[in-house]
Amino acid sequence: MLDKVKELIGEVNEFQATTPEAVEDFRIKYLGKKGLLNDLFAEFKNVEPALRKEFGQALNTLKNAAQDKVNTLKDNLESADEQKGFYGDLTRPSEPIELGSRHPISIVKNQIIDVFSRIGFTVSEGPEIEDDWHNFTALNLPEYHPARDMQDTFFIEKDPDILLRTHTSSVQVRYMENNEPPIRTISPGRVFRNEDISARAHCIFHQVEGLYIDTDVSFADLKQTLLYFTKEMFGKSKIRLRPSYFPFTEPSAEVDIYWGLETETDYKITKGTGWLEIMGCGMVDPNVLKNANIDPTKYSGYAFGMGIERIAMLLYQIPDIRMFYENDVRFLEQFKTVL
Ligand code: PHE
Repeated sequence: MLDKVKELIGEVNEFQATTPEAVEDFRIKYLGKKGLLNDLFAEFKNVEPALRKEFGQALNTLKNAAQDKVNTLKDNLESADEQKGFYGDLTRPSEPIELGSRHPISIVKNQIIDVFSRIGFTVSEGPEIEDDWHNFTALNLPEYHPARDMQDTFFIEKDPDILLRTHTSSVQVRYMENNEPPIRTISPGRVFRNEDISARAHCIFHQVEGLYIDTDVSFADLKQTLLYFTKEMFGKSKIRLRPSYFPFTEPSAEVDIYWGLETETDYKITKGTGWLEIMGCGMVDPNVLKNANIDPTKYSGYAFGMGIERIAMLLYQIPDIRMFYENDVRFLEQFKTVL
């Protein structure tokens, strides 16, 4: 009897299993209700009293060995499972991750860049804090020029004047100073004007300005480029140019697109005319070329500039410009599906 138990202890210690089923079979075989250990404990009463102590100890050793074996085998199998499952269960539904969204200003800016890059324009950027030369003087706006009042300015320092740029035309001056014609570039960026904040105006907004300089550039080139832009951007193919004034272009014009009068909103935003003003433009004034060391007898060019907010408001029917800067998630979330 005792020998049998000792033999079993050896067997238990030797036992190995690679599947949970094998471990379970082993447990049932030794520790189950009808298992070997219960049988052996039942034999206890038949053992001679003198041998009972040793037999009892051997049985306990066997029982503990079997129990330990089951526990270690189970642990080993579980940790092996965990390692195998490094990526988890791939068929499980994923954790809900909140998708971010692009800001509508970025969406529209990228669309504008896209349209112009398809006809060879590059993107140029410049500083938001500017000097007087690049924001005003080089653009044909000498000191005390009354047109400086067209763009109320935030000054950072006086004498020499350092200011927050009032338009991205300043980037175009920098670009002309550092590049030879032919020039085809658009300058998107944030601009600042000391204006009262309302639903239609803000002291911070964004612009995209374009500049094209080459030999023999004409007003017709400008018009055709703008027509291409409005077709691509808005799907509208009727524009008109109204004479206007900018110090840095001559002649200058405001560009209106024919938006139509199909819906009530169309009536509202076009004030019943069907026409919408979307940008300013003109032929670069020879003085501006001269200021940037480009020979105006050899080269000519056109420039245009538009507000990104205004275009985003049109495209997404946003009623109030302040919404762009409040970062209200209820507003921002609505642009989730737009890339
Ligand atoms: N810089 C002008 C503005 O900010 C826009 C413009 C750019 C007009 C280029 C004409 C030509 O209002």
